[in-house]
Amino acid sequence: MPFRHAMILLMVLGISCSLAAIGSSLAVSRYEKSTNLNGIPLKFAATHFPPHNILTLMPNGNYTDIGSTPLYFAWLAEKLNFTISYDYLPNEITKSQYGNLGDIALVLKVVQDKKFDGSSRFIIASSERMKTTDFAIFMWAESLAMVVPLPGEEHRIFAFVHPFQSTVWLLIFIAGFTIVVFMTLFSAIDCNFFSSPETSVCITRKCTINGWFTYYLMYIINTMTNQGNAISLRRLSFRILVGVWVLVATVLVNSYSGTVISYLTIPNMKPPINTFEDLVASEDVELILLADTMTKKQIMEATRGAQKILGDDIRAHPDRILNSIEEATVRLKTERYAFGNSQSFSNSFIASQFQENGKCRFKTSDPYSMTMFYSMPLQKDSKYTPIFKYALMELWETGLPEYWVKNSMLRAPKCFEKTKLRRTAIPKPIGLDDLAGAFFVLGVGVGLAVFFFLVENMIRFISLAKSTATQKQ
Ligand SMILES: *[C@@H]1O[C@H](CO)[C@@H](O)[C@H](O)[C@H]1NC(C)=O
Ligand SMILES: *[C@@H]1O[C@H](CO)[C@@H](O)[C@H](O)[C@H]1NC(C)=O
Repeated sequence: MPFRHAMILLMVLGISCSLAAIGSSLAVSRYEKSTNLNGIPLKFAATHFPPHNILTLMPNGNYTDIGSTPLYFAWLAEKLNFTISYDYLPNEITKSQYGNLGDIALVLKVVQDKKFDGSSRFIIASSERMKTTDFAIFMWAESLAMVVPLPGEEHRIFAFVHPFQSTVWLLIFIAGFTIVVFMTLFSAIDCNFFSSPETSVCITRKCTINGWFTYYLMYIINTMTNQGNAISLRRLSFRILVGVWVLVATVLVNSYSGTVISYLTIPNMKPPINTFEDLVASEDVELILLADTMTKKQIMEATRGAQKILGDDIRAHPDRILNSIEEATVRLKTERYAFGNSQSFSNSFIASQFQENGKCRFKTSDPYSMTMFYSMPLQKDSKYTPIFKYALMELWETGLPEYWVKNSMLRAPKCFEKTKLRRTAIPKPIGLDDLAGAFFVLGVGVGLAVFFFLVENMIRFISLAKSTATQKQ
């Protein structure tokens, strides 16, 4: 019984599936019939805009385009039955007719003047552009971001200072100095008032303050640098002083040596540029803009904040508004500029630089815009606009465009690893809070030592007085 049920179910499924297939094939064939362009030739303008259009000049003077957009057009040409040819702009003819226009303005102009049927450089459809140009449905959507040089390493001459905060260093200096002063004082008092070498802590033949001071200073430095040293410890006060110091030095030395290696071996990067604010703060990286872009409009029309500062900077240096992606690429390679464009452009530039040099020299900043929609420009009121619109919608549904764009990017996974981990791997410098206990112990020890020093000397003074009194008798 269950077997028969399953068979019936399968049959029903099969029939409905084949009905659906017939239906859809009918729909497709009707659609294809109504949109057969009968092999008409269409001419499109093309410009360099990786990863969508990757133009390379061949020795024979022609260009090749290995970006993702030619794949869209190949698909469309087959679907709609037209033949396509490209002209690569700017060329001599457009230069003589339009002068030195930016790529985007030029592409829009030649389409508007009906010299081309459309553009294979997809452009963000703004309301202003739509007045003079038709746009088929958007074929690519992403937000804008900057490509910026990777931050360099910070100088590491003083890397060995980093494990402690400056307040800790100051307190260590004060503590060491205090210990030296106390040791010198104790010795001086001892040697001057009770100058028998047997009972005193005199350590040099010449009992000069200067001699003790430098001797004890060397002792302090020796314990701090883990060299070790012996010192005569005949008196309790001295033992307390030295004992406390050695205890504190152990804490200091071990906490220092525990982190100094990471400071010396892990490169400490300057902060990366992720926002316009970071860019304003960075001294050696300047913004460049592409003419006629949304980014340029955004920066140049900003009235406050970091974007206004960048806009003023560009107004002072108009040569930083560039006409083409090629010019931007040349500037970017110097590692002195940041350039805002689509994220896919940034990533593709980073990967191409990795292929060229084997080094990851750039990164993509955080996005600074909403999602932008890139559409195919066609002549105003073109009869092809609705045809391309529907065909492109179908192409979009296949999911191929995203795959094509991804595929036309060079591979450089190394450059897109998260680098944040490396920064957090460096331990934070040790602060005063962390070592307060050690310094507290030191303070108590010094106090105790002074107390015992006074007691010892009082006892000795009394016994000395007693013995002189008995001698007199
Ligand atoms: C494309 O158009 C040409 C020219 O009209 C025609 O000969 C050809 O059969 C068409 N191809 C298809 C697949 O419709
Ligand atoms: C260069 O392109 C033109 C126009 O597309 C074509 O006629 C010509 O044959 C090409 N030259 C070479 C060497 O392929």
